[in-house]
Amino acid sequence: MENKRFAPFAYGVAFLFFFIRTIEGDVSYSVPEEMKRGSVIGNIAKDLGLNVGQLSARKARIDPEDDNVQLCGINLNTGDLLVQERIDREGLCGKKASCVLKQELVLENPLELHRVSIRVLDINDNSPQFYDDSLKFEIQESAVKGAHFLLGEAHDGDIGENAVQSYALQQNDHFKLNVNTKMGGRKNCELILDNELDRENKKDIMLLLTAYDGGSPRRSGTVVIHVTVLDANDNVPVFSQPVYKASLPENSPLDTLVVTVSASDADEGINSEISYAFDHASDDHSKIVSLNPKTGEVRVTGVVDYEKMSSYEMQISARDGLGLVSYSTLIVDLTDVNDNAPVINLKSLSNPISENASPGTELGLINVQDRDSEKNGLVHCSIQQNVHFKLVPSLKNYYSLVTTGQLDRELVSDYNITISATDEGSPPLSSSKSLHLSVADINDNPPVFEEQSYSAYVSENNKAGSTLCSVSARDPDWRQNGTVIYSLLPSEVNGAPASSYVSVNGDTGVIHAVRSFDYEHLRSFQVHVMARDNGSPPLSSNVSISVF
Ligand SMILES: *[C@@H]1O[C@H](CO)[C@@H](O)[C@H](O)[C@H]1NC(C)=O
Ligand SMILES: *[C@@H]1O[C@H](CO)[C@@H](O)[C@H](O)[C@H]1NC(C)=O
Ligand SMILES: *[C@@H]1O[C@H](CO)[C@@H](O)[C@H](O)[C@H]1NC(C)=O
Repeated sequence: MENKRFAPFAYGVAFLFFFIRTIEGDVSYSVPEEMKRGSVIGNIAKDLGLNVGQLSARKARIDPEDDNVQLCGINLNTGDLLVQERIDREGLCGKKASCVLKQELVLENPLELHRVSIRVLDINDNSPQFYDDSLKFEIQESAVKGAHFLLGEAHDGDIGENAVQSYALQQNDHFKLNVNTKMGGRKNCELILDNELDRENKKDIMLLLTAYDGGSPRRSGTVVIHVTVLDANDNVPVFSQPVYKASLPENSPLDTLVVTVSASDADEGINSEISYAFDHASDDHSKIVSLNPKTGEVRVTGVVDYEKMSSYEMQISARDGLGLVSYSTLIVDLTDVNDNAPVINLKSLSNPISENASPGTELGLINVQDRDSEKNGLVHCSIQQNVHFKLVPSLKNYYSLVTTGQLDRELVSDYNITISATDEGSPPLSSSKSLHLSVADINDNPPVFEEQSYSAYVSENNKAGSTLCSVSARDPDWRQNGTVIYSLLPSEVNGAPASSYVSVNGDTGVIHAVRSFDYEHLRSFQVHVMARDNGSPPLSSNVSISVF
């Protein structure tokens, strides 16, 4: 109570005090602590009814009761009790609720003793203070709302209202302050988690805690609260892309890097150690690529064949040390390389082909296949060197082999046809196929005599059976179509059949005399010989033989 009443005077008007006359001549004063030296506490001479003029003669003096420092003195001229040394309530009495200095006024001649009680009143000259410069806490990020953390208390040398009265916590997102009043009015406080922590968002939180006393003006002291948020595995790994797309040329060598996948985990330590894997890797995938669990590198481990499979899609997973998993998709599109030559298939062939086939006759069907794609699989087919045949594109990838002109077996009896196929790849691949084609014979040539006509000279009285001459005809056709048979055409010589004069060897064309000739009777005669082939129908030609 006194404290309050005195508070203004510590700063404004010099000072004021009470005194209470005590029984048996003792006096009491109340004085705020920390008054300037020389300040007047009260006129002790007047208060005790002493004669001021005698003070000096009677050697009036103030003695501390218990041999302590001399805090007060007396002005012998005025009888004023004065402050002589600094009066620090906290130094003298600490936390005691009442602080009374016991002094004695001593006078001599005659010896006279008065007890003087000086009640030292507290002023707010101390600020609240925390023992530590900072308070450190380590709190799991998984801590639940409502968790509390004791902060301890601030101390203030002053007492009563001048001691610590309240605490305030800096405005923040996570904590609020709870102040408990303990027995004896002391207050301590604790942090209450009001909003859950997230290490990945904020791992250090600095808060200023301020303690205020109740003085006027009030004083304050602060401490920094340093909260370190500890990791909990509360983050799943996150892939940098929801879908990874990679393009891989077929036939890429082993160990070629296809793509590197990566996931990050906002946690710390083992909570953020990620291992990658194919999720349910099917055999298809694992035969061509592998995924490094540590680095996320996808590399070629098998034969990359576009013709087998042009695209692979696989699920990949990233798993952190404690098993939180997330997934992404990896799509590997293979790109075609011109690694397949065209293949020529002969689907049908009329062999041999008749030599009288009309131009444009279709004699074969050819199919070409190229397993590559797009330009690499676009094939052009042609016939080299040969002018008698051409390829006519028909259905997709099919060509008809057709004749371009009249064939003549007697000129060219068989053909080697080379078909070549080339794709549009870069570089292009090509292949070729040879066909052997025979031309079948038609009996289109009659036998032709070597001479227009034959003459034979023979002397009379020849022997029957002697050779007169021989005829010869050629037929370029094949086998029986070209086999020549000679015969004598029926005619009359001198009224007798020609066959009674000469005969023809059907095979050799040698003409023999059948009888002996008589010059006087027959000087000359003519016979006709036919050369006929064995075709069906047969062809023939005639020649005349003059026998002289
Ligand atoms: C066709 O090829 C065969 C075998 O290679 C060869 O014996 C024949 O003489 C060739 N014919 C032609 C007309 O080139
Ligand atoms: C001879 O020609 C005929 C058609 O005039 C033909 O049918 C036959 O097959 C040919 N004979 C031979 C052996 O080529
Ligand atoms: C050859 O003579 C025979 C008999 O006179 C006749 O039938 C045939 O047509 C003749 N052939 C030719 C090519 O003149």
